[in-house]
Amino acid sequence: MKHFIITGASRGIGYSLAVSLAAPGITLHITARGDLGGLLDIVSKRGASAHAYQFDLSRTDGITVLTDEIFGNISMPEATYIGLVNNAGMLHPIGPMGKHDTEHYRQNLEVNFVAPALLMHEFVKRTAGFSGELRVLNVSSGASQNAYHGWSHYCSTKAGLDMLTDCLHLEHRDRIKTYGFNPGRTDTQMQDEIREQSPEDFQYVQSFIEAKSQGKLNSPDTVAGMMKIVLTEDRFEPGKMVSVRDF
Ligand SMILES: NC(=O)c1ccc[n+]([C@@H]2O[C@H](COP(=O)([O-])OP(=O)(O)OC[C@H]3O[C@@H](n4cnc5c(N)ncnc54)[C@H](OP(=O)(O)O)[C@@H]3O)[C@@H](O)[C@H]2O)c1
Repeated sequence: MKHFIITGASRGIGYSLAVSLAAPGITLHITARGDLGGLLDIVSKRGASAHAYQFDLSRTDGITVLTDEIFGNISMPEATYIGLVNNAGMLHPIGPMGKHDTEHYRQNLEVNFVAPALLMHEFVKRTAGFSGELRVLNVSSGASQNAYHGWSHYCSTKAGLDMLTDCLHLEHRDRIKTYGFNPGRTDTQMQDEIREQSPEDFQYVQSFIEAKSQGKLNSPDTVAGMMKIVLTEDRFEPGKMVSVRDF
């Protein structure tokens, strides 16, 4: 049995990835705050087993309980593969630093950086001694390498996530294949939210409006298909930041 743990599966890229991986012999462990019932139905019709975990990743003091539940549903002797996809992410708060409530910045840091960091730690710890294949895929962004005015916490947390990818590869490459993945501009709710911003909060908003109207956004299904390749084939060297441009 192959197991895929996917955060942020209620919509967007994570939802498409769960659907594209669903098949007999696959068990999906999907997390989000929102309703995952519809996705459970779809993936089980495709022959996959699935477990849903309704969990707010900004509450990182609960990560140990979440991973207790997930790994309680993974029978190690029967598993041949366990993959972790840190996909959940949030852009907000958008606007120059100092504008929003501290609580919103805290949530951004927890969801984009602290939660994936702790999930990776739990994954490494709980799979010690596992003899099957292990992979981790961290969903990054072009914003991890470029400062965007108005996206301070998003850019910084994605940069931190890239460094976690590098560190995990450095420390555990003997048993875990670790990858970063940059999906590029993809047509999800995150892009809807970007286009709603005022130019004061996000000065590049017009370029994102134009990209959508010119049909330049990637479809979440296409991006998910590429992520499936990274997770299941050996086309890319572990430790690498894979981008949609690499396909
Ligand atoms: N779309 C793009 O253009 C783009 C570009 C570069 C990188 N990315 C990255 O791609 C990944 C997926 O983004 P997307 O475009 O698919 O975004 P999306 O449509 O907004 O989906 C985000 C997912 O993250 C989950 N999430 C957000 N806050 C959460 C929280 N507090 N607790 C648990 N889950 C939470 C959401 O679930 P709930 O709200 O139900 O909790 C949802 O399933 C993100 O890491 C994003 O940074 C996207």
